[in-house]
Amino acid sequence: MAYTVLARRYRSKDFDELVGQEAIVRTLRTAIAQNRVAHAYLFTGTRGVGKTSSARLFAKELNAVGADGKVQEDVAEAILKGQDTDTIEIDAASNNSVDEARTLIANAAYRPLRGRRKVYIIDEVHMLSTAAFNALLKTMEEPPEHVVFILCTTETHKVPATIQSRCQRFDFKNIPTSTIAKHLGEIVKQEGGGLKAEPELLHMVARLGNGSMRDALSVMDRLMAAGEKSLTVKLLQDLLGLPDRELVHRLVKAVADGQAGEAIVAGDELLKRGSSPEQLLGVLADRFRDLMIVCACGADTDLVEASGEHRAETAELAARFDAAGLTHLIAVCDSAGRSVRTASSPRAVLDAAIVRMAMSEKLADVAALVGGQVRAVATRVGSPAAIGAMGGGGAVAGKK
Ligand SMILES: Nc1ncnc2c1ncn2[C@@H]1O[C@H](COP(=O)(O)OP(=O)(O)O)[C@@H](O)[C@H]1O
Ligand SMILES: [Mg+2]
Repeated sequence: MAYTVLARRYRSKDFDELVGQEAIVRTLRTAIAQNRVAHAYLFTGTRGVGKTSSARLFAKELNAVGADGKVQEDVAEAILKGQDTDTIEIDAASNNSVDEARTLIANAAYRPLRGRRKVYIIDEVHMLSTAAFNALLKTMEEPPEHVVFILCTTETHKVPATIQSRCQRFDFKNIPTSTIAKHLGEIVKQEGGGLKAEPELLHMVARLGNGSMRDALSVMDRLMAAGEKSLTVKLLQDLLGLPDRELVHRLVKAVADGQAGEAIVAGDELLKRGSSPEQLLGVLADRFRDLMIVCACGADTDLVEASGEHRAETAELAARFDAAGLTHLIAVCDSAGRSVRTASSPRAVLDAAIVRMAMSEKLADVAALVGGQVRAVATRVGSPAAIGAMGGGGAVAGKK
């Protein structure tokens, strides 16, 4: 049997299943309950955050509820599948529908066949042809009582202002990583068949989704294509060629220990396994960022995606740094990351950056030493102002 992608199999069947867009769901439901449904809505936001799903769900709540207040399941199903006669879906991104789109919109005046409303869902509306836009504008100027337009787009600035001004606009937010991870976990459970996923893996996949549920789901599709029953961090690392987590940890620990040699060896191992210097510096910067956030916000912070043992490991490591020092390490990764792109020897730049990071404690000692000596001189000279002006000596310190 052909494999259907997760994003299609797990399209929300009810507003309650749509995650991360609670405020929008509440407003849409209230509009229906109070009988204040507008004639035109504009749903904007990045891809895969629930715009099309919400448009269909809105159509469902408008048209699939019978006079008795109950949902008519067959109608609801047709609407959600995009097969209902009163819910007209137009995908402006597919060219062959250009003429058809204009005709469909021009037909808005005809009454719905069985529902109360004729709902037009126009996906990627910014790509409509000029002729179709004109038809749309004409209908929107004097909308027939029964018509509701739901215009979806990822690029609002390309929608003519004349259209925008006639719409009630909803900005769909990027979905928080933790919310995506939780949703992925539920999908794995529903898949059944003994399928399991490491919590850490779900967080990593969610993070790769970058706010888009659909993007996260397509990473899951790729993982599941491997045919393994247990989805692990290792599997993802292999799939995407991500640096091995254990090795990155070893490198960061060596930096904390001030062991430049050990840090270089770990870096070398990571390169041998296929990471590029640039990728490695990016991963290190992310890792130091996590440690810095834990230093500043505490080990339980939501701002760091880690679960279980990895959270404990992060907290333990963070205790060996301080937030100010970590900002320095991140800056080192960042500047080295930029220069590896143009360097004649990216490898040398990477190794130098690793040594600088591992040595930052020594650098701090030098700074403290210099600061201390100047302080001593100032004391001898007996100038309290000079002593005050010295401030802390160890500002370069990367570590405690
Ligand atoms: N907020 C969400 N909650 C749950 N699943 C979602 C959400 N947003 C997107 N998805 C998943 O991604 C798929 C594509 O979503 P879609 O509504 O078409 O996104 P958009 O129109 O914003 O690009 C859905 O079928 C669903 O599986
Ligand atoms: Mg869509």
